Amino acid sequence: MTIKTVKCTSPSNIAFVKYWGKYGRQLPMNPSISMTLKNCHTVCEVTYQIDDKNPGLKSFQFENEENSAFSERIEKFLESISDIYPLVNSLSLEVKTSNSFPHSAGIASSASAMSALCFCLAQIESEVNGESDKILEKASFMSRLASGSACRSIYPDYASWGEYTSCSHSSNEYASLFTEFHESFKKVKDTILIVSSETKGVSSSLGHTLMNGHPFKDSRKEQALENMRVITNAMKLGDWDTFGEILENEALTLHALMMTSNPSFILLKPESLSIIDKIRSFRKKTKTPLYFTIDAGPNMHLIYPEAVHKDVMNFIESDLKEHCENGKYIEDEIGVGSVLL
Ligand code: PMV
Repeated sequence: MTIKTVKCTSPSNIAFVKYWGKYGRQLPMNPSISMTLKNCHTVCEVTYQIDDKNPGLKSFQFENEENSAFSERIEKFLESISDIYPLVNSLSLEVKTSNSFPHSAGIASSASAMSALCFCLAQIESEVNGESDKILEKASFMSRLASGSACRSIYPDYASWGEYTSCSHSSNEYASLFTEFHESFKKVKDTILIVSSETKGVSSSLGHTLMNGHPFKDSRKEQALENMRVITNAMKLGDWDTFGEILENEALTLHALMMTSNPSFILLKPESLSIIDKIRSFRKKTKTPLYFTIDAGPNMHLIYPEAVHKDVMNFIESDLKEHCENGKYIEDEIGVGSVLL
């Protein structure tokens, strides 16, 4: 039996409109749109052979060491996709992954890790079955089942996931490339201020579940649809003011939903609020298009066009760095999605 290897790199992504709440088999309660990152990524190498008699995951290494917790998660995932990826019943697999960012930086790694694995699996399927059609869509579909937001990491630049009216090909089952953006959205930075590297106090999976009985569930769905309409239009027009208004509204809505769920979670730290305050004053004073977004944790993502990179870095060094844990921040930017190595 021939032993073959597929190796790829796949990045993390940062959502502008947030996916929060799900139903059925990991389908999103509302549509979302994200920017694909570049520097925060996972490298994944899958060695495989066809072995009908002894299929399954034979070994798993994270950063060159066996990791039983991750290994169990992947085994479970592989079993769960046998209906849409029947090849899993005849593949013997060895998986090795490593991240470009520290595991404990407070940066979610499941989007890059799971999209990397699924991108490799989609490549393997196309090598074995000789079908190269819709590899990205299949990789995104499987990534969604592995870890919701991971489905957006496959694509370059920007990806949307979930049905919304202004995009006729949008789907709840996989993400799609968002291409209609203005020149000024071609080169965009995301500087991630590490306020705390502690593991977050609420898993996103619990957070999604808590949306089911949430008193603001229906209004959140409506708001997300409207925010999708407005933000995609602003990206088309290059209207950074409107883009930033929605970006920050989405970040604060996500945290407001967590604060008002039952049980309630407050993940922002006093330092996160100080950073918000300073960004807003800086923007007012200098008119620099610098905006923030936040995931389910206290760290702050600063989103801005590359053209103002120097001014923003000076501001970070002089005013914001003092609010970061050990002065730490990660410089990232718009990236190309999953790529074979
Ligand atoms: O993919 P999950 O289940 O880890 O959920 C991610 C949710 C947010 O990061 C908060 C928002 C998003 O759309 O990425």
